[in-house]
Amino acid sequence: MDIKKLIYKNPALSGDYPAFKIEDAPDNPLVTFYEWFGHAVDAGVSEPSAFVLSTADAEGVPSARIVNLRDMDSEGFIIGSNSESRKGRDLENNKNGAMTFYWREVGRQIRIAGRVDIANEDENREDFIRRNDTSKALSIIAKQSEVLGSMDELDRDMQRAMERVENDKEAYETWTLYKVRPEKVEFFQARTDLAHIRLEYERSKDGWRKHLLWP
Ligand SMILES: Cc1cc2nc3c(=O)[nH]c(=O)nc-3n(C[C@H](O)[C@H](O)[C@H](O)COP(=O)(O)O)c2cc1C
Repeated sequence: MDIKKLIYKNPALSGDYPAFKIEDAPDNPLVTFYEWFGHAVDAGVSEPSAFVLSTADAEGVPSARIVNLRDMDSEGFIIGSNSESRKGRDLENNKNGAMTFYWREVGRQIRIAGRVDIANEDENREDFIRRNDTSKALSIIAKQSEVLGSMDELDRDMQRAMERVENDKEAYETWTLYKVRPEKVEFFQARTDLAHIRLEYERSKDGWRKHLLWP
């Protein structure tokens, strides 16, 4: 197994990247995020809403997985998942979370760290109602991240859950929205000369402070 050969055939950070004018960066990182997201969509970045969500349990043991950004507002970033999943249990006991976006086509990484709040029942129900039937069925089975005996078991439970979804459009139970309220946000723009630009925002008493970081 010579994976090195394959790695060197596909070098990282060697694209034709956009400029990042730090002097024009907005004072609020949520505004910068919104601008970068729009740019990613225009540049044809594949699945820009997919990112790594990192959590840790009560003992600090970390775990990470890809989820999709569902929305954002002036306070933070909204994610949807099952409260019974590993991330759901982690966030019940430890509110610290981190989000990492990597948009390969434009050499951009965004790192967000903050406190994760759980939405109230009305918000969870409303969001659940807007989901498609298959997503609803998966979430009412409420076994995300449990050991699955066989694919037949999944098919059987899915069939039952689909019947239930048809009769009960509001069976949201474990479907939960989480809001990440950022304390730190870093925008990383790769450069082919490796003088990458890293602009970090840190929340302070009177708003946000910005500084550069060594690449
Ligand atoms: C592109 C992509 C998007 C995903 N989006 C979500 C999502 O929005 N919510 C979710 O709960 N899981 C999502 N998943 C599945 C998670 O990666 C993960 O398998 C699942 O949430 C269980 O994670 P946990 O055991 O750490 O809780 C997505 C997976 C991929 C590959």
